Amino acid sequence: MSAPIIEKTPSADSQTGTKKVFVKTYGCQMNVYDSQRMADALAKDGYVETSSMDDADMVLLNTCHIREKAAEKVYSEIGRIRMVREEKRAEGGDLMIGVAGCVAQAEGNEIIKRAPAVDFVIGPTTYHRLGEVVSKAKTGKKVVETEYAVEDKFEHLPAPAKKVMSGRGVTSFLTVQEGCDKFCTFCVVPYTRGSEVSRPVSQIMDEARRLVDAGVREITLLGQNVNAWHGVGSDDREWGLGELLHKLAEVDGLKRLRYVTSHPRDMDDALIEAHRDLPVLMPYLHLPVQSGSDRILKAMNRKHTGDDYRHLIDRIRTARPDIALSGDFIVGFPGETDQDFEDTMQIVRDVTHAAAYSFKYSTRPGTPGAEMPNQVPEDVKSARLQRLQALLTQQQKDFMQSLVGKHMDVLIEKPGREAGQIVGRSPWLQPVICHENVGQVGDIVNVKISQVMVNSLVSDEIATKLGQ
Ligand code: 5AD
Ligand code: SF4
Repeated sequence: MSAPIIEKTPSADSQTGTKKVFVKTYGCQMNVYDSQRMADALAKDGYVETSSMDDADMVLLNTCHIREKAAEKVYSEIGRIRMVREEKRAEGGDLMIGVAGCVAQAEGNEIIKRAPAVDFVIGPTTYHRLGEVVSKAKTGKKVVETEYAVEDKFEHLPAPAKKVMSGRGVTSFLTVQEGCDKFCTFCVVPYTRGSEVSRPVSQIMDEARRLVDAGVREITLLGQNVNAWHGVGSDDREWGLGELLHKLAEVDGLKRLRYVTSHPRDMDDALIEAHRDLPVLMPYLHLPVQSGSDRILKAMNRKHTGDDYRHLIDRIRTARPDIALSGDFIVGFPGETDQDFEDTMQIVRDVTHAAAYSFKYSTRPGTPGAEMPNQVPEDVKSARLQRLQALLTQQQKDFMQSLVGKHMDVLIEKPGREAGQIVGRSPWLQPVICHENVGQVGDIVNVKISQVMVNSLVSDEIATKLGQ
């Protein structure tokens, strides 16, 4: 994401008038996308991105509030940045410090109180005001900008120019939906990102076409609850994500589509059928279940049972037999007994995953879970997480191993680390190391997998070349 800095001397900067911003991103893909958009917006004010704090004029932390650890990290990072700023000031320079993202939205003024070194705080619903906020902060005023109707966000996000988009690679995120109305009792997202808002079809299609024009071949649609996306289609009917995917599949030059992250309750028939009917829709689905216990699912306000989830997976696998699943799991939700945890282990065994993310429950102030009795002790959470992760890791290894000997389409993304290698992406998201002769960046090539490394696959020719 960050441009490498070739010229480091401050005099070169003052000659060109260029300022440098170091954007540090925490958390989910939505933040990755937003960071890019903020960098684009700052580019209009003459900032270029740098990959190092040392030569930056501004540090922008795009933060995550989902678990306590993620939120706390921000304050220790601000402490470190403050030291860098002091060094810079001693040498006559300066460093502006901005906090964006979900901690900004959740804590607002509190951030300035707790970390007075921060110059401005901006929440995800107000990124279109970043330019104004920075200008105000430059006058020495502390600025906190978190109050704005989320509904306006998509209207005001600056769309990057083709020139800016080009050269960013062959894969891209595209936000189609923001916020969440589900109110799972452990989750801060409905409070930090606000209620569900869908981006209009015309805006999505326009951005998709411009991305493809700029060389993108694979688009991942983003949303906190992406499959809750809905909008009025080009036929004036109400569309869901399934219909939107059909429309996007028509974009010339777009070779792959993905979407993340979904809620089981929003997997409607049209979306399941899209997995059956659209070859460009990759056979990989991140569909978190969180727990396998009906009691805990109810307490989490997930509004489905473990068996509902199993039946749903059966239907999806019938529609697209080669689909691989990934998910999120929480252990140690308040009231979780040994039996509840065993039910989670069982659903993992029943469903099987190609990848998964698992977490210890983290109490989030303001969510209903924080007020629930029977909070689970930390050591019990840790022991459960260890067992769950061992099972999930084994499933991931088994999945990778099952690909050995198979031919698959790989989207070539970038040169490899070693000379003569090129790295692509499998339909199931693993990096695939290929021989550079197989094709160019942006091509889809068919290769045979002959070896598995820890997180990547190795194609036949390379494995032969390595003599392995
Ligand atoms: N504690 C632990 N994990 C959480 N997640 C969300 N909120 C919490 C919390 N309070 C996890 C869920 C979600 C993922 C993005 O983060 O599994 O799907
Ligand atoms: Fe959070 Fe639940 Fe909404 Fe996902 S669906 S963002 S876990 S409240």
